Amino acid sequence: MRPRLAIFTDEPGWHGRQLARVFERAGYEAVFVSLTDCRVELGTSGHGLVVPGFDGALPVGAFVRGVPGGSLEAITLRLDFLHLLAALGCPVFNDGRTIERTVDKAMTTLLLRHHDVPTPPTCVTESHAVALAHVERAEAEGRVLVKKPLFGSQGKGLRRIVRASDLGFLLPGEVAYLQDFVHTGDGPFRDCRVMVVDGRAIAAMERSSHHWITNRAQGAECRSIPLQDTLAGIAERAAGAVGAAYAGVDLLRDRDGHWLVTEVNGIPAWQGLQRATGVDVTALIGSAFLARLDRGLAALA
Ligand SMILES: Nc1ncnc2c1ncn2[C@@H]1O[C@H](COP(=O)(O)OP(=O)(O)O)[C@@H](O)[C@H]1O
Ligand SMILES: [Mg+2]
Repeated sequence: MRPRLAIFTDEPGWHGRQLARVFERAGYEAVFVSLTDCRVELGTSGHGLVVPGFDGALPVGAFVRGVPGGSLEAITLRLDFLHLLAALGCPVFNDGRTIERTVDKAMTTLLLRHHDVPTPPTCVTESHAVALAHVERAEAEGRVLVKKPLFGSQGKGLRRIVRASDLGFLLPGEVAYLQDFVHTGDGPFRDCRVMVVDGRAIAAMERSSHHWITNRAQGAECRSIPLQDTLAGIAERAAGAVGAAYAGVDLLRDRDGHWLVTEVNGIPAWQGLQRATGVDVTALIGSAFLARLDRGLAALA
C-alpha cells in the first residue's frame, strides 16, 4: 500500500488537486481531511489522535492548506492537532508554530521587527483609549493609518483611518491593529507578493488595483516582476523570521523606494502567482514537503 499523507483542507479546489497530483506522482496517496473532523480519543493506550481516512494510523505527513476559523476553543483544538502530529513524528507543513505566528498579525509584526525586517510602524492594543491616542497623534502628524483585523486575510475588514473620528468604537473583545499607511506613489495602488520556499524566493508578482487593498481576492491585477536581489532578500528574511518552510510575503514599496513587509502568509494561495509568472510553484512547494517526508522516513529506517 502506498504511504498516505493528509492534505488539511475544507475546499480542495485547484490547490488540492495540484498538490494531490504531485504527491501521487511521487508514490504517495493524498487524502483530503478537514481539521474539523479530527478528534482526540484517549482510551487507556495509543496516541489518542484520530485523523479520518487513516484507519487509526497517522499520516506520514500533513500539508496544511486551511485551518477553518471558528471559536477560540475550536481553533485551539485544530492547532493542537497540528502540534500533536508533529510531536508524534509526522512532518507538518507549515508547522503549527509557524501557522500561529502568521495568522496573528501582531506576532508577525513583532517577529519581523526583532529580525530587523523592515515593516511599517504599528500599534496593537486592546485599549480603546490607547488606540485613540495613537490615532490622534497620527492625525496631528499628518499620517494615515490602516486598521486591520488581527486574524484577517484576503484583504477583508481593512479600513483606512484618516481622522481620529474614523476609529469609532472597538467591539467587545476586539483588538486594534493600527499600521502606518504606506504611500506607494502615483498611479494605481500596488503591492508585491513573493513566494519563499525553503528559504529561497522563487517567484514574485505585482498586484495593482484602483483600490488601495490590492489582494488578488479583491480583484487586483497580477503581473510577474523580476526577483530583484533586495526584494528577494527581504522576503527570505521575513519567511525566516516566522520560521516558515514556505510563505507568501506581502511587501509595499514606499515613495523612497524602500520595501516594507506588511504580511507573511503561512497558508498562502499560489494559483495567481503560478499563472502570472509561469513558475511551477506547486512543484516547488510539493517537492519541499516531500523532501521532509523522505528525510523523516529515512530517519525511521
Ligand atoms: N500599511 C499599509 N499601507 C498601505 N496599504 C496596505 C498596508 N497594509 C496592507 N495594505 C494593503 O492591504 C492589503 C491587505 O493587507 P495584508 O496586511 O496583506 O492583510 P490580508 O491578510 O488581508 O492580506 C495589502 O495587500 C495592501 O494592498
Ligand atoms: Mg496579504
